[in-house]
Amino acid sequence: MERQEALNLLKEHVKSEQLYRHSLAVEAAMIAYAKHFNEDEKLWGNVGLLHDVDFEKYPDEHPKMAKELLADTSLDEDFVETILSHGLDAKELRTNNLRKALSAVDQMSSFILAIALLRPTGLDGLKAKSVKKKMKDKAFAKAVDREYLEQTREDLGVEFAKHVEIIVSGLKAQEERLKEEGFNLLG
Ligand SMILES: [Fe+2]
Ligand SMILES: [Fe+2]
Repeated sequence: MERQEALNLLKEHVKSEQLYRHSLAVEAAMIAYAKHFNEDEKLWGNVGLLHDVDFEKYPDEHPKMAKELLADTSLDEDFVETILSHGLDAKELRTNNLRKALSAVDQMSSFILAIALLRPTGLDGLKAKSVKKKMKDKAFAKAVDREYLEQTREDLGVEFAKHVEIIVSGLKAQEERLKEEGFNLLG
């Protein structure tokens, strides 16, 4: 599936700007990880774009309803199962780097964006050290489960500093891409 088609699907099911922005952030991080692992950037990006496709309509069943919403598309069973694998209780489905990366970058991408929002220079020069500091700051982004962030990263087998570097580089590349469309990841 081409990116534009995935984006159209996302827009069809997601009206919230916050969720749309999150989806673009996860897409960005997934593309950066595809580059890192020398994998299919389009596939990995589309997984990022569509991983929360059912969240707005079915928050209680999420992500299981992605299966329904993607049924009449060209996306195959493996793609759908990859999306299902980011469910909090779906660890057994995370059987490859694509799936492990999705869970590892899902909340981390938005966590890093939230940090960038507080900085005058945004994503520029944002280092792992600053992210680590915010991980320890319990008052910051309270809802984000730090243990989950760390577990999913360790499961992917990437050092903390490298993980941050890859995600930040992906987000920065996405900012450049979106500028042309008049959209800003940092709002
Ligand atoms: Fe999700
Ligand atoms: Fe998500």
